Amino acid sequence: MRVLVTGGAGFIGSHTCDALLARGHHVVVLDALTPPVHRGGPPPYLSPEVELHHGDVRDRDLVTTLVRRADAVFHFAAYQDYLPEFSRFVDVNVGSTALLYEVIVAERLDLARVVVASSQAAMGEGLYRCPKDGDQLPTMRPEEALAAGRWDVPCPRCGGPLQMLATPEKVANPQSPYGMSKLWEETLALQLGRRYHVPTVALRYSIVQGPRQSVRNAYSGACRIFCLHYRLGSAPTVYEDGRSVRDYVHIEDVVGANLVAFEDERAVGRVLNVGGGRPFTTAELAETVRRQYRSDRPPRVTGEYRFGDTRHILSDIGQMRALGWEPKRHPADAVAEYAAWLEQLDGVAGILEKASARMRELGVVRSVA
Ligand SMILES: NC(=O)c1ccc[n+]([C@@H]2O[C@H](COP(=O)([O-])OP(=O)(O)OC[C@H]3O[C@@H](n4cnc5c(N)ncnc54)[C@H](O)[C@@H]3O)[C@@H](O)[C@H]2O)c1
Repeated sequence: MRVLVTGGAGFIGSHTCDALLARGHHVVVLDALTPPVHRGGPPPYLSPEVELHHGDVRDRDLVTTLVRRADAVFHFAAYQDYLPEFSRFVDVNVGSTALLYEVIVAERLDLARVVVASSQAAMGEGLYRCPKDGDQLPTMRPEEALAAGRWDVPCPRCGGPLQMLATPEKVANPQSPYGMSKLWEETLALQLGRRYHVPTVALRYSIVQGPRQSVRNAYSGACRIFCLHYRLGSAPTVYEDGRSVRDYVHIEDVVGANLVAFEDERAVGRVLNVGGGRPFTTAELAETVRRQYRSDRPPRVTGEYRFGDTRHILSDIGQMRALGWEPKRHPADAVAEYAAWLEQLDGVAGILEKASARMRELGVVRSVA
């Protein structure tokens, strides 16, 4: 098959390209090679076997030319950041998805599959249970609570303590501009797919980790920041009290899920969570990184927090499991592989200072009063 992979020069895209090439497909990449992920030219890890087109997913003529010649599409290209550029999230993430289906419908194309990359962020704070009031979908935590160091989400009805649950796909409660754009992206893809008979799958990834994840993208997540700190000889800061829960998922497991979405007919028409399947606190992740670097400097809890962060989120991966997929790799594997990959990179000194100065300047990182 000829498979078009938008954003194929990025982290998840390039690993997916490798898996598609290994299965004998012809892989065509459309990527704008945007900074800060890219710095002039295609990355060295991108296979020379892919047919690379340098361009934007919002370019109608280019998208039309490439989709006309494709049998299937993976849509990974996206804008991800903490900047308050609300219209850019919609323009890139939602606009490009709408354009993709517009072209497929206008050209009457008969594609075998379209897989779009959604995110756990579409579920926001996720699902909780109150012993008194039952299941709850809390909204974002008030700034006054965070500034006072009250991290846990209270029951929206009685104000009592809540128990975090694994969140299933039926929950749609995004709180960040990025999460909103991802929910709209998956809704457009699935509903237009249904309406115009385009076999579509939307995958909601949790935090994906592994080699090739950009060291320069502020959105790349905790593994990158913790590894960079220990590599450069400093101890990382863990936000809030370090007890926020996430379910980190290894890139190899994500590629496996992408192939299920691509090849298994039962996935069509569905949104599916792709997570690590086990709760892991940010402090546990930082400790895993500390052990990897054999550092005697423990992570620091300084009362800093990130504006807009969810307290906990753990994806329910029951639907993917029912399709025979299972996350096999542990977060410690991703940490070890990411640390090894970092060793090969030059010019990493200075990234942390720049990143943390920018996050403070933007008011994303704040401190308890
Ligand atoms: N990495 C994660 O933890 C994670 C979690 C949830 C969802 N996702 C989603 O998975 C997808 C891939 O993420 P990633 O981590 O590989 O990101 P990445 O930044 O490594 O890759 C994205 C690629 O898209 C390209 N791109 C960006 N804007 C473009 C545009 N307008 N036109 C063409 N190309 C453009 C970039 O140059 C980059 O190569 C994204 O849609 C993201 O929202 C990622």
